[in-house]
Amino acid sequence: MTDDRPDRPDTGAPEGDTATTAETGTPGDAHTLWHGRFADGPSDALLAFSVSLDFDRRLAADDLEGSRAHVAMLAEVGLIDGEERVAIVDALATVEAEMGAGEFVFVPTDEDIHTAIERRVAEIAGPAGAKLHTGRSRNDQITTDLRLFIRREGRAQIRRLLDLQEVLVQRAQEVGDAYLPGYTHLQRAQPVLLAHHLLAHFWALARDVSRWWDALDRVDVSPLGAGALAGSSLPLDPDLTARALGFQFRFANSLDAVGDRDYVAECLFVLALSQVHLSRIGEEITLWASDEFGFVHLADAFSTGSTMITQKKNPYLSEHSPRKAGRLIGNLTGFLATLKGLPLAYNRDLQEDKEPLFDAMDQHALTLDALTGLLATIEFDVERMQSAADGAAVAATDLAEHLVVQGVPFRDAHAIVGKLVRQSLERGIPLAELVETEPSLGKDALPLLEPGAAVRRRTTPGGGGPGPVAVQLEAAQAKLADERARLVD
Ligand code: ARG
Repeated sequence: MTDDRPDRPDTGAPEGDTATTAETGTPGDAHTLWHGRFADGPSDALLAFSVSLDFDRRLAADDLEGSRAHVAMLAEVGLIDGEERVAIVDALATVEAEMGAGEFVFVPTDEDIHTAIERRVAEIAGPAGAKLHTGRSRNDQITTDLRLFIRREGRAQIRRLLDLQEVLVQRAQEVGDAYLPGYTHLQRAQPVLLAHHLLAHFWALARDVSRWWDALDRVDVSPLGAGALAGSSLPLDPDLTARALGFQFRFANSLDAVGDRDYVAECLFVLALSQVHLSRIGEEITLWASDEFGFVHLADAFSTGSTMITQKKNPYLSEHSPRKAGRLIGNLTGFLATLKGLPLAYNRDLQEDKEPLFDAMDQHALTLDALTGLLATIEFDVERMQSAADGAAVAATDLAEHLVVQGVPFRDAHAIVGKLVRQSLERGIPLAELVETEPSLGKDALPLLEPGAAVRRRTTPGGGGPGPVAVQLEAAQAKLADERARLVD
């Protein structure tokens, strides 16, 4: 679902064709790919338990790609001849076409996507097809497939992150010098430009993009040629397959090659943390959309109604996206628990890598797309934001800093202004009046209390006033352009 390459075939067959239960056939009728060692076929219960086809069929395109590279290598090193190579490559193309057309028929003993494809290749190519698995194990095959999948899907996730970042930049540009209260402890603290606030989320997402690139670097290792765990007595050339698949590196240790799923855990972490970032954006929008804040109005297209309470317009999307973070955190911690204490090398436990990964990828992609749409259409109630930020007390820090400039130690300045704020609240006197009569402040300090004055005075690099935000906006645009260019490379 997150795959946006047009040339990736779907695995095709309708759900019901997935052979997970006895109703699709009698297991004893068909051969498993390991049938030689066994007098009896697998039980229905075993098949149902071990089958992973319903989720790993998503790796079909990657499995085909890995097989093509493997076959080319087998021919190159003389383990199959030219004719056999052509027969297998043609059969792989037929499989791809069948899957693309939704005509690929799975059989009950197709335990996973690897066995399904290999069985079909053997049916089409005859004896040559039976050579496809030479020197290869599903152990190096699956981790090759998964790395190819992440290499592609990771980039698709980056593209989505950049799209959301772009909306944040556009909206930041559009809102100009509008400002709102900045909060600490969810209490109004100091005003900042709305653009500054939006760009704060931009930088969190920029770190997610950077984390993706790091993770993808470690994904970029070919495990193909490690065999089941120990390499091979056959003259395989893992460098050749690594190059053919466009991997930057080849494994250094065959046990590690098949036993390593760090890269999956790492992607799950990148996804979980990024989802946490989205959850913070979502939660904030939910607050802002409440009557109490009233800072934003959501487009109808990104809101839901209540089945009972007629007047309601719920911020379903922004409200629900934070909950998805829990799910992604669960995917990460669940998978780490699977890995914990696993002895080398491949263990079937590792089959538990795909579902959390696919789920996290899908949920993250859905959230990114939806939040991008929401933020692109959200309406900011600038008047409300600004009037919330124009309360005189929000300028208190500026009054204290005004005293600092005149040589008053900051602690003393803090106490003087703090006392005025308290008196203003207790006695119901406007702060401006008290400021005017306070000898150390006086009339000179009154402009500090003007609407918008406090935000204009935030001038330090990276700060929330118009000067530094203009610089920041340019930096964000440059960052976005760099990342887009990197994605195209
Ligand atoms: N479906 C398996 C997985 O996802 C493929 C590897 C199976 N290897 C084995 N030796 N049974 O991990």
